[in-house]
Amino acid sequence: MKFFIDTASLDEIREAHDMGVLDGVTTNPSLMKKEGAEDFHAHIKAICDLVDGDVSAEIVSTEYDAMVDEAREVAQIADNVVVKVPLILDGIKTIKTLSDEGIRTNCTLCFSPTQALIAAKAGATYISPFIGRLDDISSDGMKLIREIVQIYDQYGYETEVLAASIRHPMHVVESALAGADVATMPLDVIKKLLKHPLTDSGLERFLTDWEAYQQEIGQ
Ligand code: G3P
Repeated sequence: MKFFIDTASLDEIREAHDMGVLDGVTTNPSLMKKEGAEDFHAHIKAICDLVDGDVSAEIVSTEYDAMVDEAREVAQIADNVVVKVPLILDGIKTIKTLSDEGIRTNCTLCFSPTQALIAAKAGATYISPFIGRLDDISSDGMKLIREIVQIYDQYGYETEVLAASIRHPMHVVESALAGADVATMPLDVIKKLLKHPLTDSGLERFLTDWEAYQQEIGQ
């Protein structure tokens, strides 16, 4: 399973990259606003220079011609940029055009299996089902991941399932069990993946015993 970080913060991306387990980055307009970068293209380029893997950069046009123009510009920022396109009618048309041109896409704001099916048929590189936002409205985000994986497997679609809107480690575990190709998550969730209280208490006991053992043998 690939791990992406869901942020536009260069510091957070560096920190995750330094752990040695980072495969890519996803951004969106809200994350760009939070970061406050003045030059969108320059900021995405800086992210692309930090990581070897794919970096999703979202377009904000909502009509086909403008979406395709904007997407072509974004695609030129770097070789590892992936154009993030919202799952609306003009977005699907845009993904089809970009796919035919060899431009890679991340189809975002997916909340149903039918949406995911259409995105795959249009040739999206990634589909981004938003687990947490479905859970927020008393729906079942994980069920959506399972359904998309099953549908894609059944028909051999190459579109990768990118579990998004992940809020906690169990979302990652269940996405992995369901067969999602990628999980994108905030830095705090990445850090939580390796935490276990028994690891901490176990290490503390090992180190205490080692110290006592050294004293016993006179070291
Ligand atoms: O980047 C898309 C997605 O991961 C957003 O997550 O937490 O805003 O629902 P969230």
